[in-house]
Amino acid sequence: MRNTMLAALAAIALLGSSAVFSADAPALADRHAKMGVKCEQCHAVKTPAAGTRPKNEACLACHQSYEALAAKTAKLDPNPHKSHLGNVRCADCHSGHAQSRLMCNDCHKFDLKVK
Ligand code: HEC
Ligand code: HEC
Ligand code: HEC
Ligand code: HEC
Repeated sequence: MRNTMLAALAAIALLGSSAVFSADAPALADRHAKMGVKCEQCHAVKTPAAGTRPKNEACLACHQSYEALAAKTAKLDPNPHKSHLGNVRCADCHSGHAQSRLMCNDCHKFDLKVK
């Protein structure tokens, strides 16, 4: 019982933390699983094939729109959700099961981390 409570508290602390992703930190899909999000809510199918990437519409079913996301990250410079590239694929930056990466830095050198 006590262990379950501690695990739950640790999960809440992780969700609320802005700590930089480390090899020990849960990846995006695991963080979503803790909130009850199922594979098929990102992937549309229960057993995604290798090489598949979620469509933006799947993410936006819960996260509304690029405009809404840009408002949430308005303090970041540059704003990763509002750029000259337009509404690119979420998965270009947000990895599901691995370290995320700021795709902008293929060309730029911005000091921005994607969790
Ligand atoms: C079934 C609903 C649902 C779907 C589908 C979903 N999310 Fe989320 N996501 C949430 C909720 C709820 C939160 C926590 C509240 C918040 O931060 O908006 C969250 C939080 C996040 C966060 C910030 C917290 C963290 O752990 O990093 C990111 C980034 C994120 N989602 C990206 C995505 C991406 C990218 C996709 C598609 C591949 C996606 N989400 C699909 C519900 C969803
Ligand atoms: C150019 C890279 C990039 C793309 C593309 C991108 N994001 Fe993000 N996103 C970031 C960065 C950087 C942050 C801030 C650090 C973090 O929370 O990971 C962020 C934060 C978030 C958050 C947390 C916002 C908050 O502070 O409450 C959510 C939710 C999110 N992104 C969802 C999405 C979804 C859904 C898409 C596609 C529609 C998307 N992102 C596309 C880079 C990106
Ligand atoms: C929050 C959204 C989200 C959830 C939930 C999620 N995934 Fe993913 N998944 C992604 C993203 C984003 C990718 C794109 C590749 C990457 O970045 O890891 C991906 C890629 C994949 C791939 C292709 C991997 C490759 O390298 O070819 C498989 C297989 C997969 N996911 C299986 C699952 C299974 C099984 C579940 C449920 C246990 C699940 N995913 C839950 C977001 C999610
Ligand atoms: C394929 C290469 C490429 C990618 C990827 C890219 N950019 Fe750019 N970006 C450019 C070029 C070229 C310019 C115009 C030349 C300049 O002013 O540096 C530019 C200019 C900019 C500028 C204005 C000039 C500056 O450096 O302040 C901003 C801000 C910017 N990009 C943000 C982004 C963001 C945010 C992303 C990711 C969502 C991104 N870029 C992805 C090539 C790219």
